[in-house]
Amino acid sequence: MNVKNAFTLPSGVRLKNRLICAPISTLDSSESGNLSDLEYQFYAQRTGDLGAIMIASSYVSYEGKAYEYGVGVSHDGHIKSLDKLAKTIQQQGTKAFLQIYHGGAMTQYLEGKTHHVCVSESSANLFEENNHFKELTKA
Ligand SMILES: Cc1cc2nc3c(=O)[nH]c(=O)nc-3n(C[C@H](O)[C@H](O)[C@H](O)COP(=O)(O)O)c2cc1C
Repeated sequence: MNVKNAFTLPSGVRLKNRLICAPISTLDSSESGNLSDLEYQFYAQRTGDLGAIMIASSYVSYEGKAYEYGVGVSHDGHIKSLDKLAKTIQQQGTKAFLQIYHGGAMTQYLEGKTHHVCVSESSANLFEENNHFKELTKA
């Protein structure tokens, strides 16, 4: 195996080599989860030679947001920002992957939240005294 050789994923997506940039949260997105100019610059500086770049962990719902100023992928309002990011990364043939997350029960510290969800039922059981915790699939 040579890391510089092209590689095809089971999905059929072809990477020009096996070099992938690990996800790095830069915490410079807006409060609403759209990327900043600095973040576009950050990715533009890294694309080109790599097979793919894994975009930093991105929250899939507001309730699942675990920290501020991260990338959002939770509603249609994020599409424009993510589309620009994908094009920034892909312009030189590097593939763009997106790391998604839901913070589950540990998002409770965020202000203004009225209900909380956990990713699994076992997590929900940790908060029996707090009946506002619900398993994600039942929320
Ligand atoms: C500032 C910073 C942000 C990071 N953000 C993420 C992230 O969003 N998602 C993730 O899975 N790992 C994240 N990581 C971990 C990196 O992807 C990588 O695994 C780690 O830096 C490797 O460290 P090492 O080279 O010392 O083993 C982050 C690391 C740093 C330093």
